[in-house]
Amino acid sequence: MRKVYMDNGATSYPKAPGVGEAMADYILNVGCNIGRGGYTEAYDAAALVLETREQLNRMVHGPGARNVIFTPGSTHSLNYLIKGLLKPGDRVVTSPMEHNSVLRPLTQLAGQGVETVYFPCNDKGELLLDRAEELITAETAAVILTHASNVCGTVMPLEQVGALCRAKGVAFLVDASQTAGAVAIDMEAMHIDGLAFPGHKGLLGPQGIGIMVVTDALAQRLTPLVSGGTGSFSDRLTVPDVLPDRFEAGTLNLPGVYGLHAALTYLEQEGAALREREHKVACHLWHRLKELEEDGIRVVGTDNLEMHTGVVSIHFLHADDGEMAFRLEQEFGIDTRCGLHCAPLAHQTLGTFPQGTVRFSIGPFTTFEEVDYVQGAVEQLLQEGRS
Ligand code: ALA
Repeated sequence: MRKVYMDNGATSYPKAPGVGEAMADYILNVGCNIGRGGYTEAYDAAALVLETREQLNRMVHGPGARNVIFTPGSTHSLNYLIKGLLKPGDRVVTSPMEHNSVLRPLTQLAGQGVETVYFPCNDKGELLLDRAEELITAETAAVILTHASNVCGTVMPLEQVGALCRAKGVAFLVDASQTAGAVAIDMEAMHIDGLAFPGHKGLLGPQGIGIMVVTDALAQRLTPLVSGGTGSFSDRLTVPDVLPDRFEAGTLNLPGVYGLHAALTYLEQEGAALREREHKVACHLWHRLKELEEDGIRVVGTDNLEMHTGVVSIHFLHADDGEMAFRLEQEFGIDTRCGLHCAPLAHQTLGTFPQGTVRFSIGPFTTFEEVDYVQGAVEQLLQEGRS
């Protein structure tokens, strides 16, 4: 049976050409640490790490290469930002479309007196901008917003929310887990102070490496949650003030950086064309599934395809979503993710709680033909349900 991978929202597959080879090259032929040893190989590896920071900074139009911090993943980046910034008595504004990697840290902090309020969103997951302004006041400690929903693919109006934050002097933190590499991000134009994203999704790199990009102003307000050796300022017992060292204690995931470097090199050459094509395939998937709505599914999320990622979620009106996802895999070889996608409030907002949805998430290598195959499979399941 053929296999069709429709779970790029969980992790991209395949990875960019050259990623596996670069990681193997580090393990087999490089092997050394950086920032510790004073020999040629260590300096060469350090140069590649710096080059990777420069690539990332260019990609998100960030404040500088040294403001790019490597972490173990986007969840860690979000925890560093949220828990490093907020203190008892603070009030933050977020959206109900967030992933648990935002909601759970905020819920933990609620026990320490951090209050969370939510932007209103409609049942397509769209943020109601006209009511956002009144929630962002000079007393707001931070606004935390996902760039796009991992459940339904609805993209948030970052530029407008960022402008509101800037006007009130409020820190703007963005979870780009579902967009970095696949949707353009401009920290400067969007007024983003802190950005979190993984290496293994839209960047087409390996798991185990994430990125946090912080402005100098935000970095000064963040408490480093992890401290230890940095290979710098070794005469001191205190955490260094300089970036990236302040937030990068311990040995970096160097195989991860090598893999990410290869992925970013590929994206720098091909990324714009890949993004354009992926958006066309995503629109095709949305239209093909939308054609089946009268047969017994609901396509959730925004109808504005300009504000849509490659994630399309459906709910079977007359069948169990979990069973349908199982049958898609068993009978058609189509890999999806069903359930609540670690985003319970998003499903409540979309009206799909507690049953969840079946989520199809494409990547840059998904073909139009694969989308047609998916549509045919869903149609067949719906027809069998009727007979
Ligand atoms: N957060 C990832 C997803 O949406 C893992 O599947």
